Amino acid sequence: MAVELRRPHAALGCLLFFYYLTGGLSIPDPRQREALIQLEASMRTGGQMVLADAEQRLDSLLFKMKQKEMARPDCPPTMHFFKARHLIRTSPIFSLLQKMPKGGALHVHDFSMVDIEWLVKNVTYRPHCYICFTDNQSVRFIFSARWPNPLPHCSPWALLENLRAKVINTTDLDNSIMGNLTLFTDEDPEAMYPSQDEVWDRFEQTFLAVWGLVTYAPVFRDYYYQGLTQFYMDNVMYLELRALLPEIYELDGSTHDTAWTLKTYQEVTRQFTANHPDFYGARIIFTVHRGRNISMVTEGVEEAMKLQRDFPDIMAGFDLVGREDTGTPLWYFRDALSLPVDRGITLPFFFHAGETNLEGTEVDQNILDALLFNTSRVGHGFALLRHPVAKDLSRKRGVAVEVCPISNQVLKLVNDMRNHPAAALMSENHPLVISSDDPAIFGASGLSYDFYEAFVGFGGLTSHIGSLKQLAINSIRYSSLTPKQQEQALALWQRRWNKFVSENAS
Ligand SMILES: *[C@@H]1O[C@H](CO)[C@@H](O)[C@H](O)[C@H]1NC(C)=O
Ligand SMILES: *[C@@H]1O[C@H](CO)[C@@H](O)[C@H](O)[C@H]1NC(C)=O
Ligand SMILES: *[C@@H]1O[C@H](CO)[C@@H](O)[C@H](O)[C@H]1NC(C)=O
Ligand SMILES: *[C@@H]1O[C@H](CO)[C@@H](O)[C@H](O)[C@H]1NC(C)=O
Ligand SMILES: *[C@@H]1O[C@H](CO)[C@@H](O)[C@H](O)[C@H]1NC(C)=O
Ligand SMILES: *[C@@H]1O[C@H](CO)[C@@H](O)[C@H](O)[C@H]1NC(C)=O
Ligand SMILES: [Zn+2]
Repeated sequence: MAVELRRPHAALGCLLFFYYLTGGLSIPDPRQREALIQLEASMRTGGQMVLADAEQRLDSLLFKMKQKEMARPDCPPTMHFFKARHLIRTSPIFSLLQKMPKGGALHVHDFSMVDIEWLVKNVTYRPHCYICFTDNQSVRFIFSARWPNPLPHCSPWALLENLRAKVINTTDLDNSIMGNLTLFTDEDPEAMYPSQDEVWDRFEQTFLAVWGLVTYAPVFRDYYYQGLTQFYMDNVMYLELRALLPEIYELDGSTHDTAWTLKTYQEVTRQFTANHPDFYGARIIFTVHRGRNISMVTEGVEEAMKLQRDFPDIMAGFDLVGREDTGTPLWYFRDALSLPVDRGITLPFFFHAGETNLEGTEVDQNILDALLFNTSRVGHGFALLRHPVAKDLSRKRGVAVEVCPISNQVLKLVNDMRNHPAAALMSENHPLVISSDDPAIFGASGLSYDFYEAFVGFGGLTSHIGSLKQLAINSIRYSSLTPKQQEQALALWQRRWNKFVSENAS
């Protein structure tokens, strides 16, 4: 039976050539098949990576583990992270990923770095901590030397120390506080958060709930140090933190300005790296909420330019944060965002863009606009596949996409991780990094959980040790570090990587 040949397409040319060679047999040539399989494999993230013997041995080990993991009827990446977390924790792949030097975390927000257990067990037990209960069952905190003035829509303040002395069971109280500081729940997450609106509403409430705790000066420092510690323990060696740089307050109610906050980040980072020489450091991306009006955003850009000039070592650039779907599109702020170029000042942008399912709306345009404004990376870029021009620009200019799998699932852009759009991006080695966005709010920590979802979920059986290595290298290559710093950081990473491979390859 003759093969019915369609009009030859350029990419299929060689395949068709082999059809002719096989003299009309309908079975495609197995050598050609193998060649095409190899071609696809070489195009993937890490597909060109040359692997040492020990890396190959580790890879076979990983492959066997992954086959088992993916064959499970309760394969974790197919489930909501809240239900999957306890399964992931006991997975042998996860424990390897925890040990693996993952390079840098390039998309993490300031006040969701540290797990909330530390916030409740350590911070809320400090003296002078007041709590109030809002009309809609959330909580707010403040540290104050004297009794603080009441907040609107909140019960009168109670000194937590007194409250704890009065309640019958402090564990119950602490658990209810914890429940307010995170989205994580043991209940059914689908029932608890049925829509994007509901989950984003709760998401924003958690930020408000932690606010009074983390903006208190002594806690602010400890929180950041603790955050660096948690990422470091997860074998992350570098961080780019998106930070609002809010006013930080003292016990007497006095406050510090933005420059103080940035300087404090710098001091704590220096202290941390002095104590942990194999940690490379951290840089700050100053962020303004996209819900702000034009004059506030303009002020933010002005402030960012000033900070960039005064603190060039720690300042990486500028971004707008908050829910894109309900926020103002980037184009609306075009005057503010072109100020730096108009004044001949360098202010790198790291825009969140394309964190949306609303194809074709004004907001969906953000991803292309971010690139038009010369963004250095794209935060999320979940909608990138639907914008071929933006995708092409991102690839050609090496503008990496910061993929945050768990965030996208919890905030209801994707259910089954195997369907995450980054699967397609990884299949063609698109510039990308894996990050964790707001790990504490999602009940995750560091980067390992997100690496797990990427590796087992959308990496499928085809992602391998080379993919992981590539992702770690990407996180340094696409960072805001100077080329010279990148070389130093890569050398540091390589030493840790070699150690990891030799200790874990059988
Ligand atoms: C709370 O954290 C601080 C700073 O990380 C630490 O010094 C202190 O020992 C902790 N306190 C408790 C009660 O865990
Ligand atoms: C709770 O109340 C605040 C203002 O008081 C409001 O902005 C927010 O949307 C409410 N959240 C919920 C879950 O009702
Ligand atoms: C307090 O509540 C927790 C959880 O509800 C329970 O496990 C614990 O036994 C209780 N403790 C006391 C002293 O009743
Ligand atoms: C938040 O705290 C309030 C007051 O303690 C409590 O009633 C509510 O259940 C908590 N919310 C969650 C989600 O745990
Ligand atoms: C912008 O927002 C700020 C702070 O919310 C407010 O003070 C100011 O009046 C607003 N400006 C305009 C032009 O709406
Ligand atoms: C972006 O870069 C291009 C080419 O370097 C430049 O012409 C343009 O002014 C830049 N635009 C912005 C808004 O930074
Ligand atoms: Zn983010």
